[in-house]
Amino acid sequence: MTLTTEANALESLTGLIHADLEAVERLLQARSASPTAMIPDIATHLIGAGGKRLRPMITLASAGLFGPIPTAAHSLAAAVEFIHSATLLHDDVVDDSDLRRGRTAARRIWGNAASILVGDYLFAGAFTLMVETGSLSVLDILSRASCVIAEGEVMQLAAKASGELSHADYLSIVEAKTAALFEASARAGAVIAGATSTQATRAGAYGHHLGMAFQLVDDALDYAGEQARIGKAVGDDFREGKLTLPVILARARGDGTDRAFWDRVLAPDADRGAEALAEALARIEATGARTDTLREARGYADAAKAALTALPAGPIRRCLEDIADFVVARLA
Ligand code: IPE
Ligand code: IPE
Ligand code: MG
Ligand code: MG
Repeated sequence: MTLTTEANALESLTGLIHADLEAVERLLQARSASPTAMIPDIATHLIGAGGKRLRPMITLASAGLFGPIPTAAHSLAAAVEFIHSATLLHDDVVDDSDLRRGRTAARRIWGNAASILVGDYLFAGAFTLMVETGSLSVLDILSRASCVIAEGEVMQLAAKASGELSHADYLSIVEAKTAALFEASARAGAVIAGATSTQATRAGAYGHHLGMAFQLVDDALDYAGEQARIGKAVGDDFREGKLTLPVILARARGDGTDRAFWDRVLAPDADRGAEALAEALARIEATGARTDTLREARGYADAAKAALTALPAGPIRRCLEDIADFVVARLA
């Protein structure tokens, strides 16, 4: 499938759950309000910039697999997007990023402190929304996931400081910082719709594998993407000296010259300017590290689709299958 066909897959799902997505958008707007102007200013800057809304879509779709989508799923989906938004505000501070969703990152306009505090506000708002669902189970799922995400970001920070990261440890970080929220989004959607515990586990497995594929592709796009398409600066991970799969593979696969290059440019005070980035890109391509990252992502996307087979068939399930392909097609 081409990217366009798969992007249509996202549109197909939007078509199926249009009214529910609109309800979620209204909640996001309403709950970004506060008499303290900087809160709606920052929240609207980020949330109003769009974003794919992938996680709330998955929550709604996951609920919709089991019948009409209950109103409580709207609060749940809004909570999920608020958690995601909070992590983005915090993440751009941690990563020193200047661009988010095609806009100047909030931290560059209002500063790091404001970004962190408004991130906290959105996190707290997510919990209010979750309580409104009346389900202790979804509160359990999402509060645990929130702990795991924070753990993932801290694990990554520690890895960066040590300068070493194995392939397996990289996957553990991705599992925590990204896949945990995808998993929780899908699982909580199923739970709020009255799925059995086996069904909820399958939905969670779909989200987990989708999230893994998503972050691997995102990490490859940081080297191979175009700023206009990803809405973030290309090469951010490299400039920061972050160890992601394309680098881990290129370093492991390469010869002595490759290894010397990576050791040099990944040193804490190394020059990671445009020239070094161009060389990094060439070495990632030449060692097949980008293709192998993509292959690994495809494996996760296939596992995500396999997890769906035990769940009720229908147009929503087909859309979820196509979303797994879409995530990988962003890079292919
Ligand atoms: C960005 O997620 C953070 C990662 C896990 C890589 P998205 O790419 O889903 O961000 P938006 O919401 O579409 O901007
Ligand atoms: C994504 O982190 C995960 C979270 C935000 C918790 P990244 O740092 O890899 O994602 P981008 O590239 O900034 O979106
Ligand atoms: Mg980041
Ligand atoms: Mg980060």
